[in-house]
Amino acid sequence: MWKQALRSLPVGVLILDERKALCYANVHALEVLQKDWSELRDRVCSWSDVESLSDSEEESTSVFQIQDVKTEQTVHATVVPFADECRSELQGYSVCWLRDDHEVEALRREHEKLLQLATLNDMLPTILHELRNPLAAIESVVQLLIEESNESISMDLHAILMEVRRMSLTLHGIGSVGKNLRSKKHHAIDYHIEDVIRIMNRTASKTRVSVVSKVALMPLLPLSPSVLDAIAFNLISNAIQACSPGGRVVVQADLIDKTLFQLKVIDTGKGMSPHVLKHCTELFYSTKPRGTGVGLALCSRTVEAAGGTFWVESEEGVGTTITVSLPLTGENRGSAAS
Ligand SMILES: Nc1ncnc2c1ncn2[C@@H]1O[C@H](COP(=O)(O)OP(=O)(O)OP(=O)(O)O)[C@@H](O)[C@H]1O
Ligand SMILES: [Mg+2]
Repeated sequence: MWKQALRSLPVGVLILDERKALCYANVHALEVLQKDWSELRDRVCSWSDVESLSDSEEESTSVFQIQDVKTEQTVHATVVPFADECRSELQGYSVCWLRDDHEVEALRREHEKLLQLATLNDMLPTILHELRNPLAAIESVVQLLIEESNESISMDLHAILMEVRRMSLTLHGIGSVGKNLRSKKHHAIDYHIEDVIRIMNRTASKTRVSVVSKVALMPLLPLSPSVLDAIAFNLISNAIQACSPGGRVVVQADLIDKTLFQLKVIDTGKGMSPHVLKHCTELFYSTKPRGTGVGLALCSRTVEAAGGTFWVESEEGVGTTITVSLPLTGENRGSAAS
């Protein structure tokens, strides 16, 4: 009877016997601890007081530990012995109310991310300025050298030029953070995407991945070429990195019904697990040892701020398709700066 009452409580409740061993956990407690009852039954518990919630010594929140059971987060609980007037079979038993820290933890993580982003935004303009100018100088010198050099050396110079342009593109990508995807002027977007593909093909060929262009001829479009370059660069980089040697990345860009711009990056890479798929557009989420986890978060936010959609489809072991769609007649809905 009392078990039924405890089961329906919206808080996590544990009951300990006189040995401090677990003899009952309600459903909510199992959710908070993220364990099955079979992992908890008969485990001896211990706790140390950390903060007093009331004047009563018996009602303070403690750091709670269960012997041989690891929990994802520190568990906080209030432990109260059953009162003397309780039924005799519960004499010496205690009841524990668990505090659900998952929401607090999620808020703390979000707060940390925002602080990191603020630091990034403060430093970016200076770093970009310091890097872009010398790169532009190197690019023009190498271009001049190519014009004046003989054929044997010009191949090497071309390779250097492509690397320098790839570096500029990376910086463009970072610099386009929060910028507006729409533009008042019209630009040759098809030409720009083709250019990104050409540059990325060098990176891809190092790992024997091919990047295939299926970019349709389009009229000049009211989109920002540098922001779109950054999006294409991020999506194609991810796709190349996901592929093993022999893999293939197809980049499609088209204008549908003259009003909907669409960019699709399709790869035959390793794909994403359902967990990665769920989190891949979160800021600072990365599964790569040296990844920043900024790429997809910024691409999706930029597209959505411009009133478009950012759609990720992926199957583990099969590949990934990312589709950016933007109605050209629509308006910005977010706060991206122009
Ligand atoms: N085409 C893809 N195939 C498989 N997984 C992908 C693909 N694109 C993104 N992901 C997954 O999404 C995560 C987040 O991608 P995102 O571009 O935001 O960051 P990153 O690539 O890890 O880091 P960075 O872009 O800074 O190098 C990746 O770590 C990866 O797990
Ligand atoms: Mg990336």
